[in-house]
Amino acid sequence: MRVLAIESSCDETSVAILSSPDDIPPLQPGWQPSVEGHVVSSQIEMHKRWGGVVPELASRAHLEAILPAIDDAFKQAQITRKDLDFIAVTRGPGLVGALLMGVETAKSLAFSWGLPIVGVHHLAGHILATYLSDNPPPKVPFGCLLVSGGHSAMYQVDGPTDFKLLGQTRDDAAGEAFDKGARMMGLPYPGGMHIDRIAKDGDADAYEFPIAMKHSGNLDMSFSGLKTALRTKLQKMETPLSEETRADLCASYQEAIAQSLAFKTKKGLAQTGLKHLVVAGGVAKNSRIRVLLDEMCQDLGVTAHLVPLGYCTDNAAMIGAAALAAPQDAWLDPMDETALTMDANPAIKLDTPFTQVQR
Ligand code: KG4
Ligand code: ZN
Repeated sequence: MRVLAIESSCDETSVAILSSPDDIPPLQPGWQPSVEGHVVSSQIEMHKRWGGVVPELASRAHLEAILPAIDDAFKQAQITRKDLDFIAVTRGPGLVGALLMGVETAKSLAFSWGLPIVGVHHLAGHILATYLSDNPPPKVPFGCLLVSGGHSAMYQVDGPTDFKLLGQTRDDAAGEAFDKGARMMGLPYPGGMHIDRIAKDGDADAYEFPIAMKHSGNLDMSFSGLKTALRTKLQKMETPLSEETRADLCASYQEAIAQSLAFKTKKGLAQTGLKHLVVAGGVAKNSRIRVLLDEMCQDLGVTAHLVPLGYCTDNAAMIGAAALAAPQDAWLDPMDETALTMDANPAIKLDTPFTQVQR
């Protein structure tokens, strides 16, 4: 089974070609899609000067980048369209204009090449990216801490279409906390990776930050108070910050985010008794979060599956992996009206990880 996958939900235009074994059911032992071609064209440089993603610019940049990215993915995989079985595309959530660029391109290709098309939920992609690791994949059911720029949540995954929400942020996502904090400290967008880098030279105990909702009794999280705590500290400090102060602030702020995620994840693992934990999404790239969650899992006798660094932030390989796990009734026939009316859905819920054919 071979898929061409497209991701354009935010500020990366990405195309991938993947294949998976036909004889092993998805998510079962031995099921591991292989990436044959993968192109990620990032718009970060363009958005940097505005301090965040400008939706209209993002859509235009996707339009320019998408066809060359498809060509490059075919070149890398050394195949032609005749070797494909179907096409997959991120349907949502994301920026509607950005999503539309991917969805309309995918639909046009499906129609003109006569291939079925599957619409994929962006978060199903982030979670199932764990199957792109060279390490042994998790066994279902598994827990997943999904931390990105737009989402922070914990799920129980029982199968390719079965994602149960256990808890989520009440306000900002962990990635937003990183990016907004970084901005306050004068670091470029997106700030998560800069905080990660600078924190390596700092003392995580230098400043105290609150860990919200510790006693809430549920698995929900909150990160907006952290931002306020950082602002209050910065208002009392002399600017520009010395390198040492900034490193200490980055390390302490990052530690608070990491500890908060670890606290709720530990609680979720205890409540559910799950023995495998996947850590996914752009923030899963964070070096401190990776170490902390890995150590925590070792203490708990849980196997940690950290999504490989190259597949944490938005990419089409994860969309391809998820699409290869989709049931065949998610495949829309390009000659059927339902395929052509498939729309981008910026607010789609993970209850609908793939397009569904109404029969
Ligand atoms: O998954 P993603 O690419 O996009 C969304 O679906 O939101 O995640 C992007 C987020 C950004 O907030 C970015 O700052 C964060 O991931 N990020 C990091 C690191 N690398 C990316 N956050 C902390 N440490 C990092 N090393
Ligand atoms: Zn994402």
